[in-house]
Amino acid sequence: MSTCHPDRPEPFDYQAAFDQRLSALKAEGRYRVFRRIARQAGQGPLAHWQDEEDTRAVRVWCSNDYLGMSSHPAVRTAAKEAVDTYGVGSGGTRNISGTTPLHAALEAELADLHGKEAALLFTSGYVANEAAISTLAKLLPECLILSDADNHASMIAGVQAARCEKRIWRHNDLAHLEELLAAEPLSRPKLIVFESVYSMDGDIAPIEAICDLAGRYGAMTYLDEVHGVGLYGPEGAGVAARDGVVNKVDVIEGTLAKAFGVMGGYVAASARVIDTLRSHAPGFIFTTSMAPPLTAASLASVRHVRADSDLRARHKSRVAQLKAALDEAGLPRMPTDSHIVPVPVGDPYLCKALADLLLYRYGIYVQPINFPTVPRGTERLRLTPGPAHSEADIADFVRAVKAAWQEVQNGRIHQAA
Ligand SMILES: Cc1ncc(COP(=O)(O)O)c(C=O)c1O
Repeated sequence: MSTCHPDRPEPFDYQAAFDQRLSALKAEGRYRVFRRIARQAGQGPLAHWQDEEDTRAVRVWCSNDYLGMSSHPAVRTAAKEAVDTYGVGSGGTRNISGTTPLHAALEAELADLHGKEAALLFTSGYVANEAAISTLAKLLPECLILSDADNHASMIAGVQAARCEKRIWRHNDLAHLEELLAAEPLSRPKLIVFESVYSMDGDIAPIEAICDLAGRYGAMTYLDEVHGVGLYGPEGAGVAARDGVVNKVDVIEGTLAKAFGVMGGYVAASARVIDTLRSHAPGFIFTTSMAPPLTAASLASVRHVRADSDLRARHKSRVAQLKAALDEAGLPRMPTDSHIVPVPVGDPYLCKALADLLLYRYGIYVQPINFPTVPRGTERLRLTPGPAHSEADIADFVRAVKAAWQEVQNGRIHQAA
């Protein structure tokens, strides 16, 4: 019974509002379940999956630790030594006692990796994008942002936080980008933001052509290489390095959390751009700096990955083997020139049922990808094979997906568990 005065309206029911939101997610089949997956350091794709009753061995097929660097011995040792030397936390923002020699060394290494004058660390790739895009655009008078339609949520957050005029250009559509650029005065500052490897479709941007348009129409370019760093180019500096066009890109953004296997984000650019961001970007200034073990581990990882082109070659060959095996088995996959192998399912319930069946019956962990990560109707499994997957792993995986796919398609699977 309400305790409110009869003349006064009922207070807002917050719990009911959230319940309604959660029920809607469940009804759409996109309520998120986080599996407890304990990856086993140094044991390749092996992990222990823990549910309420049991712990079972599974093989992971959807990790962004693309090269397995998170458990590389040099990386683990660097993290442990940093804990013993500096302690676990950095103890402050970069301005207030949070800049260790490790931070300076990692920034110098990243600048060198990308052939840029300087680099700046952020606590994640997400924060780097949000902070750097919004700050750069805000500081340029009347800046117009031109953002690819498929840009990652962190870039969209940066574009929105900039609160300046924006245009969305159709994904990888050079003619549309040019049309939008040509409609603006040459003297107006413009920031083109785009990715090298698009994380969910695995397609690759025409970086050089975009930069050439930027040059013609007086725009600055900001390239997210989150899914490119570590994997492409002679030293793993990304797709722009592979294509030999690093000098045409003004700002390169990357992560330490995927191919480098640790955590943290960064941008690399001219010394002036980095100096400007250092003193203006709230997402850099007002937060505790990256923890020493992560900084040391990242430094060790970047140094190792730059030198280990065999690791990159093994990664590429596993990707090619998995694509060939899927094709041979008659399983669908979205064609990509990258290491990301999306298997389209096109329905949130089927996608989850397929992932559940793979986990429960075949000991394969691959997360279903549903809206809002991808548009509705394009639900998929996103496969990321790595150098630690053996040929036998690939064969077992494809056999399991084929069997599970048939079972799910035939509608025989109502309850996977
Ligand atoms: C394209 C892209 N940019 C940025 C990020 C954010 O990187 P981080 O995981 O380091 O926050 C992601 C994360 O998946 C991404 O896919």
